[in-house]
Amino acid sequence: MTEVVLVRGDGIGPEIMDATLRVLDAAQAPLTFVEAMMGEKAYLAGAPSGIPQEAWDLVQKHRLIFKAPITTPQGGGYKSLNVTLRKSLSLYANVRPCIAYHPVIHSPCPGLDVVIIRENEEDTYGGIEHQQTAEVVQCLKLISRPGCERIVRYAFEYARQHGRKRVSCFSKDNIMKLTDGLFHRVFEEVGKAYPDIEQDHWIIDIGTARLATQGQRFDVIVTLNLYGDIISDVAAELTGSVGLAGSANIGSSCAMFEAVHGSAPDIAGQGVANPSGLILAGVQMLVHLGHGAAAERIHNAWTRTLEDGLHTADIYQSGRSEKRLGTEDFATAVIERLGEEPRRLRVARYPHEQSTICPVLTTQAPKTKRLDGVDIFLDWSEAGRDPNVLGQRLEALPTGRAKLAMISNRGTNVYPGGIAETFCTDHWRCRFLFEDAGTGADIIALLTVLHEHGWEVIKSENLYAFDGEKGYSKSQGGD
Ligand code: NAI
Ligand code: MG
Repeated sequence: MTEVVLVRGDGIGPEIMDATLRVLDAAQAPLTFVEAMMGEKAYLAGAPSGIPQEAWDLVQKHRLIFKAPITTPQGGGYKSLNVTLRKSLSLYANVRPCIAYHPVIHSPCPGLDVVIIRENEEDTYGGIEHQQTAEVVQCLKLISRPGCERIVRYAFEYARQHGRKRVSCFSKDNIMKLTDGLFHRVFEEVGKAYPDIEQDHWIIDIGTARLATQGQRFDVIVTLNLYGDIISDVAAELTGSVGLAGSANIGSSCAMFEAVHGSAPDIAGQGVANPSGLILAGVQMLVHLGHGAAAERIHNAWTRTLEDGLHTADIYQSGRSEKRLGTEDFATAVIERLGEEPRRLRVARYPHEQSTICPVLTTQAPKTKRLDGVDIFLDWSEAGRDPNVLGQRLEALPTGRAKLAMISNRGTNVYPGGIAETFCTDHWRCRFLFEDAGTGADIIALLTVLHEHGWEVIKSENLYAFDGEKGYSKSQGGD
């Protein structure tokens, strides 16, 4: 018996959790549950994060969570509890299988059978944001090589384990050559160890368009956090209802299983919610734990229930459906079909032993790191905002070994050689390069000179070359 921390959640959470637990119990899933209070009730009872200490203690002890959706208060209250759990427990892989059940349930993409594997910890979801000038705010997009390697290896291993043939990487590395570029590069490096799996790369915008119109072309998609957040909703919606998809959040020592959808306050308490997303999350949990036989029993009984036309309101369609069922009756229908298999839709088959995916990192640190210069960001809004005035003034300063190489505004080169049409905000990136390798002392000297001459420095970014390769981007239209 495996002990799992159970969170009943908010809104429709308790209803769909009760229904799901009945199904797990009837299928004799080898699980026992310990309940933890999280979410709205915990917040109202005085836990500012929505997760009281007792709940954290249980999670750290059992390392497995089965969770119904939780309401995130809007415009105040605690931060997203899901993001807190994912990041604190290092649940780096978010796995969402999205399958169309055509012709049983209407889907705009009848052949869809795709698994979205989303990096779950990095990217802009660090939520590191700053207002730097009156006009400009920034959000830091942090991507790490180990982070990329872990998720990409996970995707390839997942594909192998589940008999999937192709892994597609989605990124925007034509624009973000360093961050998304790293993700794509790691995908190509790691992919060499998986010659049995087909692999390709799509720029995220056309990739998403293809997913929406020809989703059947994809098999496994691996992508960064923000893109994965968006395309996994697109893919879930293509299956026919957001109420149908389960989701696994996997880390190296913890895992959390939940439905894709939220707490649906609009239908809470009515007994009409579809418990399928949570039931399929339960199936994913059983597969993760190596209980493939129980997972198959539940999944196949569930598919058979859909095939028999027994549908909850969100997927009910006259002509396709036989009967409209509430949450409890739907669970009972699944229980009655335990041991049966679908006749037209695909029969689920899972590995019957535990084979945890544990990606080994092979990243090697670069041998040399040279300081080429520094980007100094200035807040400057003098009338006219003429980049030539700024450039000439900075060039006149006694900056020693540091020479002004260029100025850009929101990434576009404006000095030297800018054009008058470029709109300039009050946020200027001034790139200084050292005559040869610089040191921290050179940067401090430069900052001191700028400060003494009345310039407002809002931040600086060091410009390094790693093993001779520039670790910083060019400006648009410049060097
Ligand atoms: P939602 O997914 O709760 O609802 C969107 C629409 O889908 C609603 O019309 C709802 O009735 C319907 N729906 C959702 N699940 C259904 C089901 N199982 N059966 C039938 N219909 C279903 O998204 P919404 O309204 O944006 O968010 C509501 C709350 O849930 C918010 O507080 C949000 O922060 C939270 N949320 C929590 C998540 C989690 O705990 N993992 C994930 C997403 C949202
Ligand atoms: Mg989302």
